[in-house]
Amino acid sequence: MTFGAGGRCASAQNMDVSPAAEREFAPLALGPLRVWPPVVLAPMAGVTNLAFRSLCREYGAGLYVSEMITARGYLMGNRLTTLLASSDPSEKPRSVQVYGADPVDLGEMIKLLVAEGVDHIDINFGCPVPKVTRSGGGSAIPAKPRLVARLVAAMVKSAGAVPVTVKMRKGIDEDLLTYLGAGKAAQEEGAAAVGLHARTAAQLYAGDADWRAIARLKQHLSVPVLGNGDIWESWDALRMMRETGCDAVIVGRGCLGRPWLFRELAQVFAGDEPDPPPRLGAITEIMIDHARRLMALFGDDMGLRQMRKWTGWYTKGFHGSAAVRGELMRFESLDELRTLMERLDPDEEFPIRALRAHRAKGSKTQRVKLPEGFLDDPDDDTPPKGPRTLEEIESWERALSGG
Ligand SMILES: Cc1cc2nc3c(=O)[nH]c(=O)nc-3n(C[C@H](O)[C@H](O)[C@H](O)COP(=O)(O)O)c2cc1C
Repeated sequence: MTFGAGGRCASAQNMDVSPAAEREFAPLALGPLRVWPPVVLAPMAGVTNLAFRSLCREYGAGLYVSEMITARGYLMGNRLTTLLASSDPSEKPRSVQVYGADPVDLGEMIKLLVAEGVDHIDINFGCPVPKVTRSGGGSAIPAKPRLVARLVAAMVKSAGAVPVTVKMRKGIDEDLLTYLGAGKAAQEEGAAAVGLHARTAAQLYAGDADWRAIARLKQHLSVPVLGNGDIWESWDALRMMRETGCDAVIVGRGCLGRPWLFRELAQVFAGDEPDPPPRLGAITEIMIDHARRLMALFGDDMGLRQMRKWTGWYTKGFHGSAAVRGELMRFESLDELRTLMERLDPDEEFPIRALRAHRAKGSKTQRVKLPEGFLDDPDDDTPPKGPRTLEEIESWERALSGG
């Protein structure tokens, strides 16, 4: 074992973090739900479909949120939207993230989701892509607290006893921080919790998340606050909760190609040292398992294609992985995937340097596009125009990514 002191596979800043003490943390209370450990799989477009959620869930416990499901696409019965929203009876609690900016659509959608047995609904107010913000949707919405209030009110009304949460960013950019006002508006309209991705829309995924903003939001609200940004190791979750006082953590990129992170999280919240991560040979088996789940959900062809992008994340930092990466992005069958992985050393331990290596999304930043005159009247609660025809919806769904 080549890991650090006491065999801990952790980066330098996490070598001395202690596991949770007894009763140090409480389960996350979301309406009638009690989530323990207080860990939430972040909604991630193209990632947190049923296949990946079920894999993560087998390692740990917590709440596993779907990728964002557009209200219009869902209401029109778009085939892919419906597939992405799908679940199976073992998925309890079942959690769906929705995307929309029209209170009527959102209300209708939520009635249907509740009738289907969904246990938790989150709304994405953090999507930074230009196609969405340019119309005043996504991460632009929190700049209008009365619009936030109107959308949350419509959702909460349709949801009945099912808890509704919102997920947002710090703001448009450092000059226009919106999270405190929008968080308060959501709370007043009955949101069961507020999640904060502690970056601005301008930042996209670059730089460090600003955990101080999470602490500020926690002080500002009485509903639970879910902290999000830069949980790469289980120890980061404990540090975030200790430093900010937040009530739960949302784990995004850190679990890409590392579903066992949820086992480690469950262990440190239970007061234990986590098991070491699997060696490369065991990771190959996890990849095959993941691929089978994707094939079951999407069909063989699309499932295998979907799996290709995961191979880079699963093999990140392992010796020799760069040399097979190109072929791993093109494999055509599970046998081929296995053969390619056999070129690497199955006994290799998980590389510590890969723990914090960024997965998905680059380090670019942006100037956020907003509609002309959008900021003239922050009290305006007019819903932005969204896509209406099936063609427009499909083009939006292709563009939608992130939050
Ligand atoms: C590939 C990818 C897709 C994402 N899709 C969504 C999404 O559908 N809804 C959402 O609210 N956030 C989305 N996000 C943002 C994450 O939920 C999370 O807020 C962000 O990655 C920050 O957390 P992290 O630092 O732990 O990755 C996405 C992020 C990534 C990397």
